[in-house]
Amino acid sequence: AYAQVAVTIDAGKPGPVIDKNVYGQFAEHLGTGIYGGMWVGPESKIPNVKGWRKDVIGALKALHVPLVRWPGGCFADEYHWRDGIGPRSKRPVKVNTNWGGVEEDNAVGTHEFFELAEQLGAQVYVNGNLGTGSAQEMSEWVEYMTSDSKSTLAQLRRKNGRDKPWKLDYFAVGNEAWGCGGEMTPETYASLYKTTTAFLKTPPEARPKFIASGGNDNDTTWSNVLSRDIKKNIDGISFHYYTIPTGKWAVKGAATGFPESEWFSTIRNTLKMDGMIRANKAVMDKNDPQKKVGLYVDEWGTWYDVEKGTNTGFLLQQNSLRDAVVAALNFNIFHEHADRVRMTNIAQMVNVLQAMILTDKDKMVLTPTYHAFRMYVPFQGATSLPATLQNNAAYTSGTEAVAQVSVSAARGTDGKLYVALVNTDPNKATEVTVDVSGAAVPARFTGQLLTADATDAHNTFAAPNAVKPTSYAAQAAGGKLTVKLPAKSVVVGAVE
Ligand code: AHR
Repeated sequence: AYAQVAVTIDAGKPGPVIDKNVYGQFAEHLGTGIYGGMWVGPESKIPNVKGWRKDVIGALKALHVPLVRWPGGCFADEYHWRDGIGPRSKRPVKVNTNWGGVEEDNAVGTHEFFELAEQLGAQVYVNGNLGTGSAQEMSEWVEYMTSDSKSTLAQLRRKNGRDKPWKLDYFAVGNEAWGCGGEMTPETYASLYKTTTAFLKTPPEARPKFIASGGNDNDTTWSNVLSRDIKKNIDGISFHYYTIPTGKWAVKGAATGFPESEWFSTIRNTLKMDGMIRANKAVMDKNDPQKKVGLYVDEWGTWYDVEKGTNTGFLLQQNSLRDAVVAALNFNIFHEHADRVRMTNIAQMVNVLQAMILTDKDKMVLTPTYHAFRMYVPFQGATSLPATLQNNAAYTSGTEAVAQVSVSAARGTDGKLYVALVNTDPNKATEVTVDVSGAAVPARFTGQLLTADATDAHNTFAAPNAVKPTSYAAQAAGGKLTVKLPAKSVVVGAVE
């Protein structure tokens, strides 16, 4: 017997547009996230276009990656952009002090990053260095990227192979200023941000959206102080929250082979994102009632103990069905807050934390998270629709419980009505009746289902298709649509 969960969608009451950049990615100079995972260099035997792997870029293109954040993360506050221009053989070798102490030869710099974005058809989010950099260094980088003049810096860009200025979509001033970005107070940061952005000048039509580096987890002080004190040159305040199964940094939990209690805690900890966004929105609504400034969740995802035998600074972790469920739950939460959450960036795109793709030399494998992103593509730029759940069942563990079903609905840019459903219970299937008002009586629901037998089912180089979506269809009977959700599953489809 199934619990009879009901969803009511009001197609006549469109809400805010879900910015496509809610599906943004993050690529940091960390482990093999860039070097090896995406960048192999033009001389490599691994097929590439201008140094970027053909297989990986090809797979990422299917996700319609709207935006990539680069070069960090913590790395950004020690990155000096001049190290990454000019002939690659002449670029300085530095130590990546944040991530494993490995040598960073600066093979990927500004030109290479823009080439990656161009190949993906993605917007760019460049993260400036406030920590060890200066307003001068950032303003010169911005000029290098955006100036169409004959200035020495613009001419240097031309000499390095790029005639026209690039389109710089977003520029952030520092990262995690409360921690690796300089251990600052929000007041100190706000003051530095105002001074710095006063010097970040571009031709008017080339002005990027500026991002202030905000808080994390349950701390709303940063959102409060930044939205209160910064009134100019600000388009977004960033916010970071990672899902850690145990909730503890020392021993975070394994990516696979975990007990059901850690499936539960991972779901529970992921769902905390909703309350955190609400709390940040509340302080921002007070200081910025017109919602001029967005809340950009520019780092999110699962963070586990690294794979055994790997460099602890490389943050390499396997990715299972659980990660796909985490991604889908977060998407549904982000859609709910589309009025303020106009960008998010999963950490990170390849080989790092909750990655889309894992690589080993010339091999690559798509993760369950990749499949979740692909299933949700119709939500990019879609118009959110109110979807309410009645009689939602609970998934319980000991004395704790979370909602069994999560839902989101939107009108896609193709005019179709899309519904995404998640069943968090690893043991119980459920049935959801979907009632749509303000639109034609539903005839059928067609889409895709992602599930597997084991909670930690994952793809490997030997078995790359262990977890992949299958097509899913449900016929309505007498105008009533019922969607069956297997245990631990994600279903995304269109109501027609
Ligand atoms: O994504 C990994 C790291 O997590 C980032 O560099 C940093 O901003 C955060 O602490």
